[in-house]
Amino acid sequence: MARTIKVDCWWIYGNILLDKQYYWKPNNCLILLSGLSASQYLSEGKKLIDEGISDLLPNGKAYPESIHEAMRYSLLAGGKRLRPVLVMAASEAVGGDRQAVLPFAVAAEMIHTYTLIHDDLPALDNDDLRRGKPTNHKVFGEATAILAGDALLTQAFIVMTRAAGMESVPPGCILKATHEMAGALGSTGMIGGQVVDLESEGKPITAETLEYIHIYKTGFLIRACIRCGGILSQATEGQLNSLSRFGAHIGLAFQIIDDILDITGDQEKLGKDIGSDLTKDKATYPALYGLEESKRKAEELVEVSIECLKEFDDRADPLREIARFFVQRTF
Ligand code: IPE
Ligand code: IPE
Ligand code: MG
Ligand code: MG
Ligand code: MG
Repeated sequence: MARTIKVDCWWIYGNILLDKQYYWKPNNCLILLSGLSASQYLSEGKKLIDEGISDLLPNGKAYPESIHEAMRYSLLAGGKRLRPVLVMAASEAVGGDRQAVLPFAVAAEMIHTYTLIHDDLPALDNDDLRRGKPTNHKVFGEATAILAGDALLTQAFIVMTRAAGMESVPPGCILKATHEMAGALGSTGMIGGQVVDLESEGKPITAETLEYIHIYKTGFLIRACIRCGGILSQATEGQLNSLSRFGAHIGLAFQIIDDILDITGDQEKLGKDIGSDLTKDKATYPALYGLEESKRKAEELVEVSIECLKEFDDRADPLREIARFFVQRTF
């Protein structure tokens, strides 16, 4: 009962949502898009983010050095930079300029990296490898890793609210986007998903609870990045609704593929421990539905997500292509 209420909260809080009648529809195949390549757009975006990151963090030599080194270690270790690229792509989809939202996009990556550092901690997933390197707590110790996560989250709010580099964005939009981001991260967002993920280890769970975990722990941040890109670039209400629905679908698809890669992926390519979910008997899509059915669900979600953007012109092509990358990825 309690779980049903929580799921209901998501429907109200999320104000979107997954078109179930659509995405559980059998035998849909993906629409193939041609033209712009996701990998080109992503590598260009990643370059912009990587250049921006260092400047928006305290220097590694700033006192106390240990915390700044730990923050920089995980943030500069690499990663696909998908969330910040989504902020920029959503901004462009509604006619904005990706450079104008760059600091906010970098902040989204700081937030994501904080969630990874904490997710890997012994008290959570207890993993040793992340982004091809030993996890933060393995190098700096648990206490510093916890604090590095806290500091990255806080630094993200400093960057999002100080407006430097985002002078062309109206302050009201910055406030709205920052509020959006905070809402996605708390106990009724990402943290809620992480809590139920941990509480579900080793237990049989319902399809509803599994969906809750994945939407909350992963989908919320992804959807927030897309909404924030739209908000910062003054999307209309209609555009924002479409972006929300797009983000909700690809957010869930992303975590389903993450579950699949935990079984079928290549450890070197992924840069993180394989088989980690099996060891901990985690609530995953492959565990409940099997590999093939999980892949099919993710593909259907992406198909619907692309459908959600039908009112957008070709400026939304990067979003469409990133959505396709979400299910095709091998890392
Ligand atoms: C991993 O996210 C954590 C999940 C939410 C599944 P990514 O696969 O985007 O990790 P990086 O940023 O590329 O390292
Ligand atoms: C992580 O989910 C979700 C968050 C970090 C909020 P996972 O635990 O599946 O991510 P990986 O597989 O460790 O990257
Ligand atoms: Mg986890
Ligand atoms: Mg994990
Ligand atoms: Mg995983």
